Amino acid sequence: MHYSEFLLSNTKTLLKRALRNGYAVPAFNFYNMETLSAILTAAEITKSPVILAVSESALKYMDEDILMGMIRGAKYKKNQIALHLDHGHSFESCKRAIDMGFSSVMFDGSALPLNENIKISRRVTDYAHKFDVSVETELGVLAGFEDKNTHSNKNSYTNPDIVKDFVKQTGTDSLAIAIGTSHGAYKRKDKNESLRFDILKQIAENIPNTPLVLHGASSIPQKYIKSINKFGGDIKNAYGISPVQIRKAIALHITKVNVDSDSRLAFTAAVRETLSKDKKVFDPREYLKAAQNEMTKNCIDEIQNIMGSGYKI
Ligand code: G3H
Ligand code: 13P
Ligand code: ZN
Repeated sequence: MHYSEFLLSNTKTLLKRALRNGYAVPAFNFYNMETLSAILTAAEITKSPVILAVSESALKYMDEDILMGMIRGAKYKKNQIALHLDHGHSFESCKRAIDMGFSSVMFDGSALPLNENIKISRRVTDYAHKFDVSVETELGVLAGFEDKNTHSNKNSYTNPDIVKDFVKQTGTDSLAIAIGTSHGAYKRKDKNESLRFDILKQIAENIPNTPLVLHGASSIPQKYIKSINKFGGDIKNAYGISPVQIRKAIALHITKVNVDSDSRLAFTAAVRETLSKDKKVFDPREYLKAAQNEMTKNCIDEIQNIMGSGYKI
């Protein structure tokens, strides 16, 4: 199956436009019908391009046929939506997604030795480009998720001196970089800690035509943390990257911004509130609909107030 049969776009097309016009395309993760619908509704209301991101574990959770069935049934405009494998960890994983009908894949070789990262990234781009599928690769390691080998729990920032060569050798369409973000809800002890904009500027100068990607970019809205805790949850010391910093990064060439944790928080906050307020509810559609609506609200807010991608289709 090729992605063109689903009216999907590849990310190269979406990101090229964003880079030229100074906004970022959001990549929102989804795992089921409700989260997919939440993202597509936000994209439709805001008239924004959006990247639907599926992690390897989300793919396993949804099942291939169900996932592609949902994509086939979804409604969206041409040149608006990409279906992207998030953090593919092997050539085989990326190939599988391409063969399924994904329009974009990420090969995450960030934890590998540089030579190995380059070698597998090149193998992925060679295969993907035969089908006009876009490829994102990564240099540098984000703390908390990608540092499995070192367990250092520290960022290892992207080295600006090697990005040009990396892009040339791999043939990548976009590059994920490490400038101080990290995955999950517990990003920083000091709320005011700044991203390394100095590194970002040097990278952008060295590869001005390559769209740059920011992972771990959730802002962790405190209203959701408060609401989750009010209705029985227990999430402490969770802080994200402030919208001000993300907007600054976008002004400095970040062109794709990955958000997953914020959606999870919005969704969970609504489920907890709905169930707590009416203890007689036991129809999953009641709390799942509330959760979907809250996630849509949050995606709209981020599109309009962080990404600047509204009315760009
Ligand atoms: O960057 C990672 C995403 O948040 C996906 O996480 O593997 O738990 O689906 P996951
Ligand atoms: P967050 O955990 O900050 O939402 O990051 C998501 C991400 O980078 C997905 O690839
Ligand atoms: Zn990520």
